[in-house]
Amino acid sequence: MHSRPSSTALDLAELQDWLLEHHGDTVDTDRLPAIRTELEHLATRAVPGTIVELGCYQGAMALWMRAVLDATGQGQRPVHVYDSFQGLPERGERDPDLFETGYLRAEPEQVLALHDRWGRTPPVIHPGWFVDTLPSQLPEQIAFAYLDGDYYDSIHTCLTACVPRMAPDGTLIVDDYADLEANPKAWNGLPGVKAACEDYFHTPSPLQVITGGGDLAFGRYTAPLGR
Ligand SMILES: C[S@@+](CC[C@H](N)C(=O)[O-])C[C@H]1O[C@@H](n2cnc3c(N)ncnc32)[C@H](O)[C@@H]1O
Repeated sequence: MHSRPSSTALDLAELQDWLLEHHGDTVDTDRLPAIRTELEHLATRAVPGTIVELGCYQGAMALWMRAVLDATGQGQRPVHVYDSFQGLPERGERDPDLFETGYLRAEPEQVLALHDRWGRTPPVIHPGWFVDTLPSQLPEQIAFAYLDGDYYDSIHTCLTACVPRMAPDGTLIVDDYADLEANPKAWNGLPGVKAACEDYFHTPSPLQVITGGGDLAFGRYTAPLGR
């Protein structure tokens, strides 16, 4: 398939099917519609600010977010993505022995090529470890944040940097947040993620659990309106 010009209207159903076929390691039939719903709500609630993804890997979800924004009259909303592009860091004490250090290594060029393939404006790419990039390179006002950094330290760093920058009524999704009391079906393979949320927010966590048809493990934080 050749690159499409960015003026071409994108069929979200076609893109969803393609992403599920080619990037099924990071996106699935629960994640894609759940993120779409979050972005659609931003438009209806007129939440100001930028979209950020912390842990973008090859850019599959970044592309989906760009396409949904374009399809919902939010073509002017920028997307910023952050990744080490060196894969996962060393795991910490709260993280399971599941992946090798460096697993999920990608290149910024893959993110660019994916957007080019579908004729979408590429995101602003911020390579580097979260602890180095986020404090100075996050936008001042965030409408929506997708945190997908897998490990305790990564998620704690992301929350620390993002939450104070959230626009009123903006939302933040933490992937791999498995609250088994609220959703016994949730995948609980990365328990450091929920531990980081509890340590950051202090128990009880304000995260609202989002469920899907399968083992989706999503927690949603909504920023207060009056600030
Ligand atoms: C599960 S993948 C992200 C998948 C992507 N969100 C998607 O849906 O296609 C996790 C990514 O987080 C990145 N990552 C994890 N911890 C990080 C850190 N502390 N700093 C920078 N990147 C990190 C890894 O390099 C990896 O690419």
